[in-house]
Amino acid sequence: MIPENAGPAAVIVLAAGAGTRMKSRTPKILHEIGGLSMVGHALRAARSINPQRLAIVVRHERDLVESHVAALDPQALIVDQDDVPGTGRAVEAALQALDAGQALAGTVVVTYGDVPLLSAELLTELVATHEFEGNAVTVLTAVLDDATGYGRILRGEDGSVTGIREHKDSSEAEKLIREVNSGIYAFDAAVLREALAKVTTDNAQGEKYLTDVLGLAREAGGRVAAVVTADRWQVEGANDRVQLAALGAELNRRTVEAWMRAGVTVVDPATTWIDSTVTLDEDVRLLPNTQLHGTTTVARDAVVGPDTTLTDVEIGEGASVARTHGSGSVIGPRAAVGPFTYLRPGTVLGEKGKIGAFYETKNVTIGRGSKLSHLGYAGDAEIGEDTNIGCGNITANYDGEKKHRTVIGSGVRTGSNTVFVAPVTVGDGAYSGAGAVIRKDVPAGALALSVAAQRNAEGWVPAHRPGTRSAELAQAATNDSSSTPASTEEGK
Ligand code: UD1
Ligand code: CA
Repeated sequence: MIPENAGPAAVIVLAAGAGTRMKSRTPKILHEIGGLSMVGHALRAARSINPQRLAIVVRHERDLVESHVAALDPQALIVDQDDVPGTGRAVEAALQALDAGQALAGTVVVTYGDVPLLSAELLTELVATHEFEGNAVTVLTAVLDDATGYGRILRGEDGSVTGIREHKDSSEAEKLIREVNSGIYAFDAAVLREALAKVTTDNAQGEKYLTDVLGLAREAGGRVAAVVTADRWQVEGANDRVQLAALGAELNRRTVEAWMRAGVTVVDPATTWIDSTVTLDEDVRLLPNTQLHGTTTVARDAVVGPDTTLTDVEIGEGASVARTHGSGSVIGPRAAVGPFTYLRPGTVLGEKGKIGAFYETKNVTIGRGSKLSHLGYAGDAEIGEDTNIGCGNITANYDGEKKHRTVIGSGVRTGSNTVFVAPVTVGDGAYSGAGAVIRKDVPAGALALSVAAQRNAEGWVPAHRPGTRSAELAQAATNDSSSTPASTEEGK
């Protein structure tokens, strides 16, 4: 007995085509939208219906495609297509590879590696209809205003699907048909196997057409039907970069809309870009011009933006991140980052911590409640809790050859423009004076001063820069304060 949640016997993803219109050294299906390659989207959709096997047919740039697919989906079976061209040949190769050992039985779904908006829901509907109706073949179709280039769906007088005619093989009358083949199908495995054995390359393109299987299945007495979708985006492929951008924008529109429906406030959907790999909680607020990429996650009540680009960043509950460029970082709950902050990989900011304006951070752990509020660099460092790093502080982590660590304790207060020459350690509760260059460890509770005591050479400016505006003003000021010290008080 088959368990109720068992998916189809197999999904075959076709990805052997050349994709020359991309004009790219990168294989077409490796181009990305929404943070995932086109083939990544195809594999996700395929996996969503829980198939027992998954095969992908490759040929063009096969090594690049193979390593990419192996990284995304190690369980996928990679099948090579030979010199015989055509979608039918591609499926035949996959079926032969899948049949090795034990012949497949049941439903086999075919999809394309370059149709990235195909959803789990539509694929599920295709398989459910196919199995519920007991069809030999069920094809996903759409009605387009301009059907040029697509295979046309042929229907009999009773409206049933009789076959598919490729554009280049179609008559003038058939060219008027606007219902097109998406190239996505559910087949009965046995019907597919038998029909493919009969498909020839006797057509306008000299290819082995998968589309010929429909007519053959019907001739053999099988039922052939269609699922017509009103959502043309889900069957659209990207052949060039113009179509890629259009699909990317539509994918983003859908992603942003889905998050809004899930409880995320998006102030300006048109300038908000969210990869399909990002996760957001309820009551997150995204301000205009925010781009969230990779594995970024944002917890409840956090506010991100405006003008913020984050890749692989984890944001805690109630945190705020404004005008920031960040990657590979963790921002703790109720922490604040920005504006104008650059978070590089390995930045970990504790709860209620702050990394303020014009700060660059890298590979630094900052404890709870610690603040790096303005103008500085913190790299290869560890900072304890409730420490205040003054304005313009720098961890000098690089000696020209190697990187070294700076360790700063808790409850530390550093003066403006302190430089930590790593490796160096500052103990808990220590202070540093303004402009200090910390080359030696500072014990807990010490005040570290490294700048020579100030000496004022009185009267130096009038003596050495006579006749300048500075000298004039200095003269006036010294006269005021020395000859009439009480005059200002009297005058007021
Ligand atoms: C195919 C369909 C057509 C349909 C259209 C939808 C056939 C014969 N025609 O057109 O009815 O309207 O898709 O886009 O099936 N591929 C291989 N090996 C090959 C050829 C193609 O793996 O030898 C893959 C491609 O990488 C691509 C998909 O199959 O993912 C479709 O190939 P493409 O050349 O774009 O489609 P057409 O054959 O023009
Ligand atoms: Ca195509």
